[in-house]
Amino acid sequence: MDDKPLPTYHGQRAQRSSSRSLAFKGLLAAVLLVVGPLTYFSNTVVDLSNKHSSSPSVPINAQAIINKCKALDVLPGPPKDFGKRKESDRFEPGTKPVLIRNATIWTGRDDGKEVLKGDVLLAHGVVKSVGDADVAELAEYADVVTVDAEGAWVTPGIVDAHSHMGVDSAPELEGAEDTNSFKGLTLPWLRSLDGLNTHDDAYRLSISGGVTTANILPGSADAIGGQAFTIKLRPTKERTPTSKLLEPPFSLNATAGEDAERPRWRQMKHACGENPSRVYDGTRMDTQWAFRNAYETARKLKVEQDEYCSKAVAGRWTDLGAFPENLQWEALIDVLRGRVKVHNHCYEAVDLDNMVRLTNEFKFSIAAFHHAHETYLVPDLLKKAYGGPPAIALFATNARYKREAYRGSEFAPKILTDNGLKVVMKSDHPVLNSRFLLNEAQQAHYYGLSEHLALSSVISTPATILGYDHRIGFLNKGYDADIVIWDSHPLQIGATPKQVYIDGIPQLKKPHVNSKPSRLQKSPQTPDFKVEIKETLEHDGLPPLVVYKAKADVVIFKNVSSLHVREGTKVKEVFDVTRPNALGENGDGVYKVTDVVVENGNVVCVGVKEDCLKTYETPSSVIINLERGSISPALVSFGSPLALNHIDQEASANDGRIVDVLTSSNSGLLGPGPLIRAVDGLLFETRDALLGYRAGVTVGVTAPTGGSFIQGLSTAFDTGAPHKLSNNAVLQQVTALHVGLLPSSPSVSTQIAALRNLLKGESQGDLGKYFKLVAEGEIPLVIDVHSADVISTVIELKKEVDSRLSGGRKTQFTLVGANEAHLIAKEIGAAGIGVILNPARPYPEDWKSQRILPGPPLSAETSATLLRKHNVTVGLGILEQWQARSTRFDVAWTALDSNGRITKTEAIELVTANLEQLLGVRKPNLDLVAVKRGSLHDFEGQVVGIISSRQRGVNLI
Ligand SMILES: *[C@@H]1O[C@H](CO)[C@@H](O)[C@H](O)[C@H]1NC(C)=O
Ligand SMILES: *[C@@H]1O[C@H](CO)[C@@H](O)[C@H](O)[C@H]1NC(C)=O
Ligand SMILES: *[C@@H]1O[C@H](CO)[C@@H](O)[C@H](O)[C@H]1NC(C)=O
Ligand SMILES: *[C@@H]1O[C@H](CO)[C@@H](O)[C@H](O)[C@H]1NC(C)=O
Repeated sequence: MDDKPLPTYHGQRAQRSSSRSLAFKGLLAAVLLVVGPLTYFSNTVVDLSNKHSSSPSVPINAQAIINKCKALDVLPGPPKDFGKRKESDRFEPGTKPVLIRNATIWTGRDDGKEVLKGDVLLAHGVVKSVGDADVAELAEYADVVTVDAEGAWVTPGIVDAHSHMGVDSAPELEGAEDTNSFKGLTLPWLRSLDGLNTHDDAYRLSISGGVTTANILPGSADAIGGQAFTIKLRPTKERTPTSKLLEPPFSLNATAGEDAERPRWRQMKHACGENPSRVYDGTRMDTQWAFRNAYETARKLKVEQDEYCSKAVAGRWTDLGAFPENLQWEALIDVLRGRVKVHNHCYEAVDLDNMVRLTNEFKFSIAAFHHAHETYLVPDLLKKAYGGPPAIALFATNARYKREAYRGSEFAPKILTDNGLKVVMKSDHPVLNSRFLLNEAQQAHYYGLSEHLALSSVISTPATILGYDHRIGFLNKGYDADIVIWDSHPLQIGATPKQVYIDGIPQLKKPHVNSKPSRLQKSPQTPDFKVEIKETLEHDGLPPLVVYKAKADVVIFKNVSSLHVREGTKVKEVFDVTRPNALGENGDGVYKVTDVVVENGNVVCVGVKEDCLKTYETPSSVIINLERGSISPALVSFGSPLALNHIDQEASANDGRIVDVLTSSNSGLLGPGPLIRAVDGLLFETRDALLGYRAGVTVGVTAPTGGSFIQGLSTAFDTGAPHKLSNNAVLQQVTALHVGLLPSSPSVSTQIAALRNLLKGESQGDLGKYFKLVAEGEIPLVIDVHSADVISTVIELKKEVDSRLSGGRKTQFTLVGANEAHLIAKEIGAAGIGVILNPARPYPEDWKSQRILPGPPLSAETSATLLRKHNVTVGLGILEQWQARSTRFDVAWTALDSNGRITKTEAIELVTANLEQLLGVRKPNLDLVAVKRGSLHDFEGQVVGIISSRQRGVNLI
C-alpha cells in the first residue's frame, strides 16, 4: 500500500544502464512533424492491389499490419451507440428490475448540482429512467420489485479512484502481499489484475459503505509500479478476477489493434518522492532519471512504430521487416499515445514540478496526482502539465506521516477547487478503510469544499478521471445500475446505505437500517474557514496553531443552546434545547437559548440575562455569541503515538521505537528490571496534538510506541501545552502499565508465560514495582489484543491473579483493539474487564482481528452496543495521531450507529470519563469546549474556545 512505511530494499537497482542518446529528442520533433500522431488514423484507403502487392516484400498479413497501424492512435472511449444500450455487458440474467419510488436523487449532472425528486428504474443492469418513471417502459417489466425510498437520498455508487483492495487484502497474510514488486524502479508491464485476490473481506465491507467501483493500483514502491485495473466490488457468478473488471482494456487479451472499435482506457501507477527513494536506497534524482530513461525507451519505440506505419500505409514494404513492438514497453508507449490514465502518487512541490516537467518533455498527460499534499500550494504549476491539469486525489485529514505529507491541509480540497482544479477524495485502501470513503468527502465538505463538489469528489469526478463517465458516476439513462439509497444526507456524519445496487443487483441481503433524525436529511451548514485558509496559504501550509488566553477573568458565552459538563465519571446534560422535547424549547418551537458565564475557567452561572450578567459582567469581560452553539466536555485521546512524534516516519522528528525487554539483547538497559515511561519521550507542540486541542481534545494519554510485548508506562498530558515544564503540561506522570499480546515472535503463549511470571510481582526494578501495582489492583494493565482466543486466556489469567488478592480486591485489566471482543462480551463483562475499541469502527486487518462485528447495515449491533449490554466499560481509541482531531465526530458516529442504544451523553463518556477510568487517569478532564453554530459532534459547529479550570481561563481559537 502507499503510505505505510515501506521496507528498504537494497537488493535491486533500477535498470539504468541504457545509454540511449538523448540527441534523439530533436529527431522526435522532426518525426512528429512528418507523421503527426493521427496521420494514419484517418480513413486512409490502402490499395493492396497496387504494384507492390505482387512484390515478394509485401507480407501476406499486410492488411492486418495496416489495421494495427490505424488502430495505434485511436483514442479510448465507449463503442459507438454505447449510450443507447438496453442491457449492460455485466448484466446477470435473472436479476429483477427494480423501481425505487419517491427518492431524492443526486444525479451527478450539472457539476453535481442537480437534485431530482422522483423514481429510478433499474433493469437489465442499467438505469432505465431517472425522475418520473416512464409508464410505458414500466409496463414492459412484469416482475419489477418496487422499493419505497420514502424521500431518502439516492446517489450513484461511490467510485474509489485509489484502492489496493484485493492486492493488499484483509485479512493481511504473507501469501497475499501483492501490492508492490521490488524487482525494479520502472515496471510498466506489471498488472494489478494478476494479483487480485477474490477473497478479500473488504469487498463486502466496502460495498456496505456504498462503494461500488474501485481502481486497483499497484503500490508506490516503484516509480512505475505497473498497470491498474478498475473493478466492480460485487461477487460475480464466475468468481474470477477478470469477471470483476469494469471495462477490460483490449490489450488485456492481446486484441489490441485488431479491433476497429475504440479501445478502452488503461490505467497506470506512477510514484515519485520518498517511497521509491526509500525502497531503492536512492534519491529524487535517481527516481526522476528512472522515469526519463523509461519514457525515452518508450518514446524511441513509438517513433519506430510510427515510422514503420507511415511506410506501411504508403505501401513501402521493401525491407520493412516486422512491426516493432515490445511487450514490456507497450503500455508505456500507450501512455505516450494518450491511451492510459496515469495515476501519479506525488506529494511535494519538488516532485510535482519534476512530473510536470516530465509530461512536457515526453508529451503525455497525467490523469491525477494522488496524495498530492502540496498541490494546493502550487495550483499554477499544475496547470502547466502537458494535456491539462491533473485531477487531485486527496485524503481529507490524514497527513504529517512523512515530510512529504507534513504540509497537508484539510483545506486543500476547497483551495484546489477554488483554483478550478478537479478534486477527488480517495481511500488508498487499506490505508483508509474504503468502507468509509464517503467520510473523506464529508470532512472535505466540513472544511470548505462545496456540497456539490464534495459529493462529486467520490462519485462523478473519479468516474470521469478514470475515463468511465459514460457508464458510472452519474444517474443517466443507460448507465450502469450502480446506486445507493442512503439513511441520511450523504454528507452527514455516519451516513449509511439502506441498500446498494451493483449492476442492478441488491448487495445487502438483510440490511439493518437505523432511523436517523430529520435534521440529518439535509446537508450540514458548515463553518466558514476563510481566515484559516488565508493563514494556511500565508504560512506555506504551516499556519500557527497555538491558542491565546482570553485577557479577562470573566468570559460570557451568549446564545448557547446546550451545555454538557463532567460530573465525576459521568457526563451530565445541564440543558439542551436542540433535543426534541427538551426543557428549553418553548411550546411554540422557539429555542430558549441561554448565557453561560465563565470565571477563571469555571462555569459560574447559567441562565438568562438577569440572573448572570448582572452579577458578573464588567466592562472588561469578554463576550462571545455562540449563535446557538454549544458547550460540552473536552475529550481525551488514546491509542496513537500522539505527542511522541512530529513526523511518524522521520527518526529525528520522533521519540523512536522502544526496546522490547523480552527480545532485546540490551534488555539489561544498564540496570535490572527497566520499564519505559512515555512521559520521558513526550514532545510538545506537535501539529497533531495542537490540531487535536483545537478540535476539543485537550488531554492525551499515550503509551510508549511499539507493537511489542512490554511497552511501558503511559502518561497523561495537556495537548495544548507549550512544553513539558509548563504549568500542568503533564497531568499524570504514570497512568497505566501497557503490554501487547499480538501475534509476533516470540509466540503469544511465550508472552503469556512471561506475563504470568511478571504478575507475581517478584521481578526487580521498575518492572517488578509496576507489575506488583498491577497485581494489587493499584494501576490498570492495558493489553493490546484483538483475538477472542487470546482474550479468553487473559480472562483466565486475571482470575488467577485475582485469586491471590485478599479483601475483595481485584486487578484492573483493559483490552485495547479488541475487534473480536464482541464474541465473548458476556465473559468479558463477567470478568470486569474494560475495552477500548481501536479502531472505533473495526477492520479485519489480520487473521487475529478478522472476526469483526461490522455494525449497520451489516449488523444491528456494534461492538460498543454489545459490550455495553454486558456492562463492559467501553472507550474509543485512535490508531494514528492525525485522527485525534476527529474524535469529536466519532462521538456522534458511534451514537448514530447504535440506533439509540448509546445516547449523546453516553457517547461523550466513551472518549472522556470511560477512557480515564480504563487508563488509570485519576483526575477528570474538566475542560469544556465552546462551539459556535453547532455542536462539537456535528459538521456544523466550529470550536472557538477551550474553557479550562486547569489553566484558569479560556483559550481562544
Ligand atoms: C415521499 O416521502 C416523504 C417522506 O416519507 C413523504 O413525506 C412524501 O409524502 C412522499 N411522497 C410521495 C409522492 O409518496
Ligand atoms: C478480448 O476482450 C474484449 C473486451 O472484453 C472482447 O470483446 C474480446 O472478444 C476479447 N478477445 C478475446 C480473444 O478473448
Ligand atoms: C442566536 O444565534 C442565532 C443564530 O445565529 C441568531 O439567529 C439569533 O438572533 C441569536 N440570538 C441572540 C439572542 O443573540
Ligand atoms: C449490568 O448492570 C446492571 C446494573 O448494575 C444490572 O442490573 C444488570 O443485570 C447487569 N447486566 C449484566 C448482563 O450483567
